[in-house]
Amino acid sequence: MNAQPPIASPLLDHCPEGLPAEAYFDPGWFRREQSAIWRKNWVLAGHHSAFPAGEVALRKIGGVEVIVLRGPDGALKAFHNTCRHRGAALCTETRADFNGKLIRCPYHAWAYDTGGRLVSTGFGTPTKDFDKRDHGLFPVALKEWNGLVYLCLADDPPAFAPDMGVDALDNWPMERLVVGHRAEKDLACNWKVFWENYNECLHCPGIHPELSDLVPVYREGVMSEPERRGWQGGEAGPALKTGARSWTLDGAPCGAEFEGLSAEERAAGHTFVTIYPSSFVVAHVDYVRVVTVTPLAPEQTRLTAEWLFLPETMGAPGFDLENVTGFATLVIAQDGAACELNQRGLHSPKFTAGRLMPQEFDIHRFHAWVLEALQAQH
Ligand code: FES
Ligand SMILES: [Fe+2]
Repeated sequence: MNAQPPIASPLLDHCPEGLPAEAYFDPGWFRREQSAIWRKNWVLAGHHSAFPAGEVALRKIGGVEVIVLRGPDGALKAFHNTCRHRGAALCTETRADFNGKLIRCPYHAWAYDTGGRLVSTGFGTPTKDFDKRDHGLFPVALKEWNGLVYLCLADDPPAFAPDMGVDALDNWPMERLVVGHRAEKDLACNWKVFWENYNECLHCPGIHPELSDLVPVYREGVMSEPERRGWQGGEAGPALKTGARSWTLDGAPCGAEFEGLSAEERAAGHTFVTIYPSSFVVAHVDYVRVVTVTPLAPEQTRLTAEWLFLPETMGAPGFDLENVTGFATLVIAQDGAACELNQRGLHSPKFTAGRLMPQEFDIHRFHAWVLEALQAQH
């Protein structure tokens, strides 16, 4: 007996317009999004291992430089990369060694402790009207989730809300995973073009022959069974083709499967968790992939992908890293080319906005989310 309610079709009942074309290249749009979206939401800064003790990491979120460091107690802290004296950058490199105790401004040597408190004004000798306590570093909200470090520049950060819930990955041993492979790629497209491509599978049969072979439902241009035309409800079957267990070149898991997964999670073959605007996590039965999206300019977006494994999986005899990373690397390259193709055509003065198909319901939701954020800014 099936206690689950039937899964309803998510298909749209109409074909809405997309965002106006200028949303994808206009510098004004880009600036508004930086402030209304990228400086308001939780943005992935990296896997926790990217922030070892004794180093300061430099990140840029919504055009704002942020430093992340580990205090003596091991806790991570983040601050604006801005000295309270006359505003100089405290770090100029992605990583600068520091003594683990003080962050010293390279300009006039004001120094701050790892809690951001001003402890020295260097050769400057303040008068009584100056209170060090009023001149600490500007803090940035930081949250660790499943071994991933998120930052939020808002004074009053929103709830951390992955689309599948904060507990979506609770059955995976996320805290124990290590980064086994990392790839970075700059795409000539707007960041929203990337997310739109992520949010539909109409392109799968044409763009991803290998992926569509691994995930049979993708051959029909949909992401899951309930999106099939004429879906009557019921239970969706296994996502991967018979015999395949994971997203690898040969479909075999790269090592022992994670122990704590439910039968549904194993049958799903992939569990996607999306945290707009900067990241998504794909959890498989044997490894996890984390992708970060960073807008560099209206038509330039950096993509960073990390493959996470249990240390014992990587250390096991016969572990074949290339068999794992090769598959998603191929898919990412195919998607990247599609995104650049999309961006290139947007510049026609005749193209004012696209029209979405019913299967593009997730793009429609994404557009609504973007527009709502921009409107809330006013
Ligand atoms: S600007 Fe940093 S010490 Fe002067
Ligand atoms: Fe794709």
